[in-house]
Amino acid sequence: MDYSVPEVTSAEREFYGENLILLEGAISEFLSCMDMIRRYEVQLGNRDPVASSQTRIKSAESMRQKLQRLAFPVTAESAMKNVFDAAGVRLVCPFIQDIDRTAELIRAIPGVQIQTEKDYIRSPKPNGYRSYHMIVEIPVFFAKGKTPMRVELQIRTNGMDFWATLEHQLRYK
Ligand code: GTP
Ligand code: MG
Repeated sequence: MDYSVPEVTSAEREFYGENLILLEGAISEFLSCMDMIRRYEVQLGNRDPVASSQTRIKSAESMRQKLQRLAFPVTAESAMKNVFDAAGVRLVCPFIQDIDRTAELIRAIPGVQIQTEKDYIRSPKPNGYRSYHMIVEIPVFFAKGKTPMRVELQIRTNGMDFWATLEHQLRYK
């Protein structure tokens, strides 16, 4: 698995400032936990429930819009406090049953707190969007101490991912 942090532009560096490394740290920490969990599953003789993962830091543009829409101050500090999807990880699973298994494995990680879960698989959105969403809080350790960071997880099958990507492209064109 690739722990490398997602690409950002100077716009994100400017907007998030010193919070950017914390967001990147949260993503790599989560991926590293996930990797260990998956290896252990395979060692136990179980199938790896995850096929691939993607990561992203919410763009400065999209974060500003969201803060404005929610009537919060448009600053990095406010973004860290009020918006829970600045750091995002998408996990793509081979089969639909793997989504439940993946969520179960994530709930069992010591030190990772589950803040919210939304099941758009059993209850798809009216437009047909399906995915399992979790907001998790994971501690990021560094020289200044330990900072709890939130990461938005989207767990879905290849089919659901294909649909969501197309729908997203259609919506923004
Ligand atoms: P935001 O949409 O981020 O403001 O948060 P929310 O509180 O509405 O949460 P929700 O769980 O509905 O959506 C979070 C994320 O899931 C979005 O930012 C998208 O990445 C994805 N998502 C939700 N709904 C859709 C949808 O209808 N189509 C697509 N393509 N993605 C969606
Ligand atoms: Mg939404």
